[in-house]
Amino acid sequence: MSQPDLLLPHGRILRYHFHERLTHWVAAGSFIYLMLTGLAFWSPWLFWLALVFGGPQISRTLHPWAGLVFFFAVSYMYAMWSAQMYSTENDKEWWKNIEHYTKNEDDRMPPVGRYNPGQKLLFWGFVFCGLLLLASGVVLWFPEYIPWNLRLLRYAAVIVHPGAALLSIGLFMIHIYMSVFAERGAFGSVIRGDVSVEFAKRYHPIWYKEVVGDSTNPPK
Ligand code: HEM
Repeated sequence: MSQPDLLLPHGRILRYHFHERLTHWVAAGSFIYLMLTGLAFWSPWLFWLALVFGGPQISRTLHPWAGLVFFFAVSYMYAMWSAQMYSTENDKEWWKNIEHYTKNEDDRMPPVGRYNPGQKLLFWGFVFCGLLLLASGVVLWFPEYIPWNLRLLRYAAVIVHPGAALLSIGLFMIHIYMSVFAERGAFGSVIRGDVSVEFAKRYHPIWYKEVVGDSTNPPK
């Protein structure tokens, strides 16, 4: 089944609809704010970051609300994309050939669909971290409501919250490197929405075939 509505003029293919791009940038904007204010609370060496964002009181007040925004954006991403993020038989072959991927030998990689297994792993990592950050963040937001006999929850939150934050910052850095610098042409897809036919064929050949399908005049 082809998806002719995704075929655009001048050999371009629509990769992200507007609502997907908007959700992505709400997640990205809230994450960057959370990361920078969170680092300010985490280390005295980085406390100056709180001053950049209007001072420690404002940062401490807004940080949990930005956390809710991030969580809802990631939940919406889950609703939009999770069905395409499950591992396939092909993906196992892809991991076995990861060495070629690291050498940019894309023609020697098993073909992938709309997302490659690395992108899928990143997606689940963000979902997992989002859940941990929300659960531990709520405990840290309202500690006075946690009864003393459940104080272990507070201790756990103090460990889990920065742990999940550091893990998500690691994922974020890998994501920026891969999507902006390694896969040339991907960045435009979260800005304008479209990619070139060359990009689709090179990085997501199964997706390209799904989009073009039995179209009589596929973009080359
Ligand atoms: C300045 C920050 C960011 C930039 C420049 C950026 C860039 C991109 C780009 C270029 C893509 C398209 C990749 C493709 O389709 O081949 C993408 C997709 C995606 N982004 Fe981001 N992103 C940023 C922040 C975030 C954050 C904070 C999250 C956390 C939820 C996130 C989650 C995703 C996911 C799940 C996808 C789809 C799967 C993937 O391509 O990895 N992004 N991003």
